[in-house]
Amino acid sequence: MRVVNFNAGPSTLPVSVLEAVRDEIVEFDDSGMSIIEMSHRSDTYEAVHFGAADLIRELLAVPDGFDVLFVQGGATMQFGMLPMNLLTGASKGGYVDTGAWASKALADGSHHGEVYAAWTGRDTRYTRVPTVAELSLREGTRYLHLTSNETIGGVQYRAWPDVPVPLVADMSSDFMSRPIPWERFDVVYGGVQKNLAPSGLALVIVRRSILEHTSRELASYFRYDLHASSNSMYNTPPVFPIYVMEKVLRWIRDRGGVAAMAEAAEERAALVYRTIDESDGFYASPVEPTSRSNMNVVFRLADRDLEAAFIAEAARRGLVGLTGHRSVGGVRASIYNAMPMSGVEALCELMDEFRSGTG
Ligand SMILES: Cc1ncc(COP(=O)(O)O)c(C=O)c1O
Repeated sequence: MRVVNFNAGPSTLPVSVLEAVRDEIVEFDDSGMSIIEMSHRSDTYEAVHFGAADLIRELLAVPDGFDVLFVQGGATMQFGMLPMNLLTGASKGGYVDTGAWASKALADGSHHGEVYAAWTGRDTRYTRVPTVAELSLREGTRYLHLTSNETIGGVQYRAWPDVPVPLVADMSSDFMSRPIPWERFDVVYGGVQKNLAPSGLALVIVRRSILEHTSRELASYFRYDLHASSNSMYNTPPVFPIYVMEKVLRWIRDRGGVAAMAEAAEERAALVYRTIDESDGFYASPVEPTSRSNMNVVFRLADRDLEAAFIAEAARRGLVGLTGHRSVGGVRASIYNAMPMSGVEALCELMDEFRSGTG
């Protein structure tokens, strides 16, 4: 029996996609073999590979001047690859330190160029994104790096900061949940194992004009320009996640595209936050309302001793993956695109009943 899966990543995928994968895994498209057994240079695989890239372009309205890259190594490798490619010469990378993931991006970036924190929320326990006025950008800043959604802290950029330098963003945990204003960005990247596919792949979308200036003094796999000129076929691509992602992308398109995903995300999150806010303090979100994530809802019970019982009762009802990240504790409900509203309703029903049962 399938449970309601609130895991933060890898995370729930559409059941119809999993069923299609099950049906096709032994033989794909009358080819006599599995998609994971065939050459990545075959016409059959290429149709899937290019189909996935085209769907990303269509769904996110990616302009012609950007390349869509499929890169192994997850979002973590991008923490290094991005400054390796962009911080040429004396330029600097500014980072907005909104939580655990932004801190990691900044720390890794420091090995590959001059990077600095343009703001940090560390002293206020990472409960919000900063205002533009709070950012201190240094001269020679090549980009401002944002973590659009902090998966652990549940802090999300709800409006992009208006700054005089290009933005780059780690969108690992909210990719495909909202449109992207491309004119503001040079690079967006993310691991796909939350909203899009199984792990093993980072999706990187990069402004083509910047590729001319990226560093050539790198091992080939780290060069954005080589991934772009080879259509992400410089070496053997991560076939399985790309194959599953292509199906998830079609699933998104069939449901009305990114605008529909955005609307559904707002509805799901609004219901959980309302349940928190109307609980007379029984539950509390540590995140300031304007920065609350609609992908990862983090909350605590006023009586910390009840948190384990809450999570156990949830599991008894088939609601799993709700334990907050080990660094922050509490409860975290990851409610990505594939989470049905019925799953969120079941969570909120549990929250109400648990409160009245123990109140
Ligand atoms: C916002 C964010 N950035 C980066 C990562 C790291 O991703 P990966 O495991 O693909 O390296 C994660 C993983 O959960 C994440 O949530």
